[in-house]
Amino acid sequence: MRVLITGGGGFLGTKLAAALAKKRELNGHELTHVVQSDIFEPTPVEAPYKTTGIALDVSDKDAVNAALAEPFDVIFHLAAIVSGQAELEFDLGLNINLFGSLNLFEAARQGGNKPVFVYTSSCAAYGGEWGDEITDFTFLNPQTSYGAQKAAGELLLTDYSRKGFLDGRGLRLPSVTVRPGKPNAAASSFMSSIFREPLQGESANCPVGEDYRVWNSAPRTVVANLVHAAEVPEDNWGMNRCLAIPGQSVRVGDMVQAMTNVAGSNAAGLITWNEDKFIQKICEGWPQDMKTDKAIRLGFHQDKGFEDNILWFLEDDIQR
Ligand SMILES: NC(=O)c1ccc[n+]([C@@H]2O[C@H](COP(=O)([O-])OP(=O)(O)OC[C@H]3O[C@@H](n4cnc5c(N)ncnc54)[C@H](O)[C@@H]3O)[C@@H](O)[C@H]2O)c1
Repeated sequence: MRVLITGGGGFLGTKLAAALAKKRELNGHELTHVVQSDIFEPTPVEAPYKTTGIALDVSDKDAVNAALAEPFDVIFHLAAIVSGQAELEFDLGLNINLFGSLNLFEAARQGGNKPVFVYTSSCAAYGGEWGDEITDFTFLNPQTSYGAQKAAGELLLTDYSRKGFLDGRGLRLPSVTVRPGKPNAAASSFMSSIFREPLQGESANCPVGEDYRVWNSAPRTVVANLVHAAEVPEDNWGMNRCLAIPGQSVRVGDMVQAMTNVAGSNAAGLITWNEDKFIQKICEGWPQDMKTDKAIRLGFHQDKGFEDNILWFLEDDIQR
């Protein structure tokens, strides 16, 4: 089975490649070749099958067609620019997040083999007025360009699936916390940096108050859910090809307390609390809680508490 991971040199793409290397199969079909593509040439993770890293700009239609000339059985499409950058650089966001996705849908269609196509959308696809709670039936009304680009991709994925061009599965990811590495241009970047930096002995600023609730999921849970998305039988998806995967709604103050419970009180002392109106405005438009009944019914994994996010960061990603 041939698998492509776009954004395969990024945070989740690298972790997904590592998870596949451990698992070795999808739906009982042995993996034979996994390609990790990114805007740069990523170093592929070691695996018991052929692995390749390729530089592929998803906004370059010809390059995408060439890279997919030999069809893939499963495509995990993770390449994107993040929310803060897509808001500031509208054309770039449109080209990568929307047209890049369309280029991949088209190339997958041309392959003629109806690949399983796992698309990473975001809970930023929701927004505006949504009533008391967000459920599987809340309509998408994004309030950022990033969210709009992700939501537009969802519509296309659904139509390409309805036409039988591909077998699409779109996941609206919660904020994935704790993300390793450096702060990025995501408006949600602080949701990781207020834990990552203090746990690594550095200070970090929290631009929102302690009562702000973060709809989040741990990297291990999200990667398990990306894999699960590729394995759910097609008939079980029904007509709604895209869904919100489970997350946990936790107050920032309680997240910090969870860090203290796991790692002691020094880290929390390294957090500063200076408000940032630009970040607040974006974050306040995002859902802080959701009901994800369909995903739970389909067997998607659920987090069990924010302590795990901290523990797993210490086990998997901390840089001392
Ligand atoms: N991490 C989160 O909290 C979160 C939440 C919701 C949705 N998502 C979505 O999940 C996916 C993966 O997220 P991540 O956190 O691993 O992000 P990431 O930024 O670590 O990885 C994305 C990768 O895409 C690559 N990329 C950017 N432009 C590209 C282009 N033109 N062509 C090819 N590759 C390009 C980047 O180089 C990067 O390595 C993204 O689509 C993101 O929008 C992530």
